[in-house]
Amino acid sequence: METVRITDVAPRDGLQAEGGVVETGDKAALVRAIEGAGVDEVEVSSFVSPKWVPQLGDAAELFGLIAGGKPEGMIYSALVPNERGFEGALAVNADARQVHGVERLIDKVAVFTAASEGFSQKNTNASIEETLERFGALIPRAKEQGLMVRGYVSCIVRCPVDGDVSAEQVGDVVSGLLELGVDEIDLGDTIGAGDPDSIEQVLLEVMERLDGRAVNDFGDPTLTLHLHDTFGNAGACIERALEVGVRSFDSSAGGLGGCPYASTETSRAPGNVSTLAVLDAVEAAGLTTNVDREAMMRASLFAGGLIK
Ligand code: HMG
Ligand code: MG
Repeated sequence: METVRITDVAPRDGLQAEGGVVETGDKAALVRAIEGAGVDEVEVSSFVSPKWVPQLGDAAELFGLIAGGKPEGMIYSALVPNERGFEGALAVNADARQVHGVERLIDKVAVFTAASEGFSQKNTNASIEETLERFGALIPRAKEQGLMVRGYVSCIVRCPVDGDVSAEQVGDVVSGLLELGVDEIDLGDTIGAGDPDSIEQVLLEVMERLDGRAVNDFGDPTLTLHLHDTFGNAGACIERALEVGVRSFDSSAGGLGGCPYASTETSRAPGNVSTLAVLDAVEAAGLTTNVDREAMMRASLFAGGLIK
């Protein structure tokens, strides 16, 4: 049976949106619970400005806490918006090598931009082109270090600032990221605006841009879908994505998460699709994952308990 790849983003996308700051020790316990459930990758944190996202200001400390117990074959990733963030990730890897003898603690860095100018500005204080310039400086260095690079594109259906986004707009940003040499394209429906048809349209456009680049150098899928479940459509969208051929999804234990810069004054951006909901869709399609459902249920309960 074909296996679908799962990245759990709860410690990063989940916790970045919470008003309170979760203690670093609790975050480490969350990572342990999620990886113990058998996900393929954990998106652990972000090396971003703590003024912009104070919830993740302890990224280096968190990696220090989990360095000793990294399971064999587990992939840890972290967001880096610029060279400063990338240096933070390299410093963590250097420490882990020295202190714990771990060859490479962070395996993958994720750069992030958007399909809409409004969101790019709001999220990173830069135009789409400026974000790509920033990434151009760090991606070759990541490759030199043997790190994989994920390239996120947010607002693949609609932007909270600019409104509707076309599949072609998404495709153009994807092409820009591919030219820079990212190993993986990750498509974010940041505000959960998609339905199965609009998601399929974007996927078909992006698959055309990928042009047969189905597998990267590390054997991981090149295309990942990252849905927020704002209007309860994420499960149906994942079913359609599976039909179209997508075999890699982001989700969060307990359905935590949302992007602070996608929230409005009156409502907080809702959570990522829950990992259990992705398991449901994958199983309904007759496919499987490496995740143990019981263990993920326990991890989800633990995740929920961290949120006030
Ligand atoms: P800026 O203010 O334009 O940056 O922010 P700057 O270069 O002018 O620097 C301002 C200050 O930040 C300086 O410090 C820098 O040193 C510091 P000061 O002199 O004022 O003390 N700084 C940093 N500190 C730590 N780490 C860094 C860093 N860079 C600069 N890497 C910046 C630009 C990109 C830094 C900022 O906008 C930022 O951090 N944005 C991050 C926003 C964010 O994390 N958003 C959520 C993640 S994306 C997301 O959730 C969507 C996704 O889930 C997919 C989807 O759902 O669609 C991925
Ligand atoms: Mg997100």
